[in-house]
This record gives sequence, C-alpha cells and structure tokens, in this order.
Amino acid sequence: MTSDLPKTMRAVEISEHGAPEVLRLTERPVPKPGPGEVLIRVAHAGVNRPDAAQRGGTYAPPPGASDLPGLEASGHVAATGESVGEWSVGDAVCALLPGGGYAEYVVCPASHCLPVPTDMSLREAACLPETFFTVWSNVFMRGHLEGGERFLVHGGSSGIGTTAIQLASAFGARVFATAGSAEKCAACEKLGAERAINYREEDFVSILKDEGGADVVLDMVAGDYIARNLKAMAQDARLVIIAFLGGAKAEINFAPMMMNRQTITGSTLRPQSVEAKAKIARELRERVWPLLDAGRVAPVLDSEYDLEAAADAHRRMETSEHIGKISLKVAGG
Ligand SMILES: NC(=O)c1ccc[n+]([C@@H]2O[C@H](COP(=O)([O-])OP(=O)(O)OC[C@H]3O[C@@H](n4cnc5c(N)ncnc54)[C@H](OP(=O)(O)O)[C@@H]3O)[C@@H](O)[C@H]2O)c1
Repeated sequence: MTSDLPKTMRAVEISEHGAPEVLRLTERPVPKPGPGEVLIRVAHAGVNRPDAAQRGGTYAPPPGASDLPGLEASGHVAATGESVGEWSVGDAVCALLPGGGYAEYVVCPASHCLPVPTDMSLREAACLPETFFTVWSNVFMRGHLEGGERFLVHGGSSGIGTTAIQLASAFGARVFATAGSAEKCAACEKLGAERAINYREEDFVSILKDEGGADVVLDMVAGDYIARNLKAMAQDARLVIIAFLGGAKAEINFAPMMMNRQTITGSTLRPQSVEAKAKIARELRERVWPLLDAGRVAPVLDSEYDLEAAADAHRRMETSEHIGKISLKVAGG
C-alpha cells in the first residue's frame, strides 16, 4: 500500500571518506519497500558514533544496506511492502535502520519498527532505536544483568551510556559510570548512577573493588581498559565490549579470569540478521517500551541540526563535549 510519493528525495551522502565536510546534500530516488519492509517518511534521524566511523572509512555498511549514513529514524509509514500486516500507511514509528537514515525516505524491515512511545515527540523517538537495541541486547540479553547486581558502564554520558544508566537502574541494578568531566559525571548521577567516576581524576578499579566488584561491565573503550575491567569485576561477572575507542588490542593475564570465572563477550548490532534484530525489537517492546510509555525512561537530547548541516552534527559528536544524543531534523514533527 502506498500514499502519494515523490520520485526523488533529499539525502546526505558520504561523497568520499574523510572529515565531516565530505557529508554532502544530494538528490536520490525514493527507495521502494520490498516484501516485509516499510517505507518511512523521515521526520528526524539520530546521529551515532558509528556514522562518523562510516564517514571516515572504518565501518563499511553491510552487504545490501544503503550507502547513506543513518542507523535510526522516526517518522510516518509512507508505504508498505508485501506481507506487512503490523503497520499501515500513516502510523508513527521509530526504526532501527541498516543505513539510509540521513534522507527524507528510508526503507527497513517492518519488524525493526517500534511505535512512538506515549507523549513522546518524533525528535525524541528518533534517538531511541540504536542505543536501546544495543544496550538491551548487550547488557540484558548477552550480559544477563539482574536487579541488585552492580553494573559499570564506561562513556556514561554518551548516547549509549545515558541509555544504559537509565535501563540498568530501572531494572534495579546498582549503577556505576565513568565519564571525562565533572559536568558529565553530574549528568550520569542525575540519570540514576549511584556513583559517577571522573576517570581523569579517579581510578574506577579501586572504587568498584571497594564495592565488591562489578557484575556486568559495558565497555566501549577496550585497549588497556580490558585488563582493568577484569580487575574491577566480581566473580562470575560478565564483560561486554561494544567498541574500542581506546584500541582493539590488549594483553591480558587469563589466570585471574579463570579463577574468578569471568566472561568476556561482545557484539556489533549492524551486521546481525533481520530475525536477530526482530527478536531484540520484540523484547524491547515487551520489557522496555512500557517504561518509555510511562515516562520512567527517556532519551537524553543534546542538540539538533538540520539535515543539510549533518557535517556540524558530526563535528559536535567528535568534540565528545555532548551529553546524550545528537539528531537531525529532516522534516520536523
Ligand atoms: N557494538 C555495537 O553494536 C554498537 C552500537 C552502537 C554504538 N557502538 C559504539 O558505542 C560507542 C558509543 O556510541 P555513541 O553513539 O553513544 O557515542 P558518543 O555519544 O559519541 O560517545 C562516545 C563517548 O565515549 C567517551 N570516550 C571514552 N574514551 C574515548 C576515546 N578514547 N575517544 C573518544 N571518546 C571516548 C567520550 O566521553 P568522555 O568524555 O567520557 O571520554 C564520548 O562522549 C561508540 O564507540 C560506538 O561506535 C557500538
């Protein structure tokens, strides 16, 4: 089913790999939804650190995905492909995308869409999918965080970190977060962290050890943090690595890891199968969307830029001064 659609759309493409100015406004054909897919008329798109990595040439889109950046968006369903029963033209949704969010229209599997939570703006909803899918699948499905456990997240003021703090505390964990300034630490504590640690001034290892050790760690730094995380962890604890801002290689003494029965794991979201992401979406809808509907959890918005100013959005992200999410206004709403 289709509403009246233009043939072309405005989009931001990566004209070549490089600095933010390689992001250029362009005209592209409006994509068509295949079986099981929906076409979304985009209102807002979330900006994520992996978009900057794609722009820089270190994070290629998976086979079959749009070459346009953009891993999440909100808007209205503009057309549905064959065998889509759940969504209809006009429905307000937010969606995890394999790419292509920096555009007026984007296609994605219908099973990767979620409803816009009650009383939430489309701007806020655009900032949900990438971090909520990542945090739910890594902290809860992979890391098995339980209420009452101690949870440590690095980069606590990042898009991922602000989501992880809120979800872990909503599910009853004791939350510890690291961040690089007093202002960022204050933001982490406001979101529910029991103790934010300014890693430029304090040692997270000794602080966590004094508390009995972390049961789950969500790490985006890796490098020399891996050995330090293991020291900060309790017996039977789980270390979940989702990025390596501090380097992809590390030297580890495996003896204490074995003695303490610790697990090191990790994942990347984007290359996973349509079904694997649909499973995460179903769990989010059942376990997390009620918290968003009730206003108990909400995305933290840092700043918004017009679609044509996507380069400025990337510059802001790469200063690392932001707290929470950066978004693009594509069509408003
Ligand atoms: N595996 C996955 O599926 C997946 C999915 C989404 C995102 N990610 C990754 O998760 C990370 C966070 O994503 P995001 O979109 O939330 O990013 P973001 O908002 O840009 O946050 C990154 C934060 O990391 C902190 N940081 C710590 N060490 C750093 C270093 N060496 N270089 C730069 N920043 C450093 C910075 O805050 P401080 O001032 O506190 O240092 C910065 O604000 C990114 O690396 C992203 O690629 C992974």
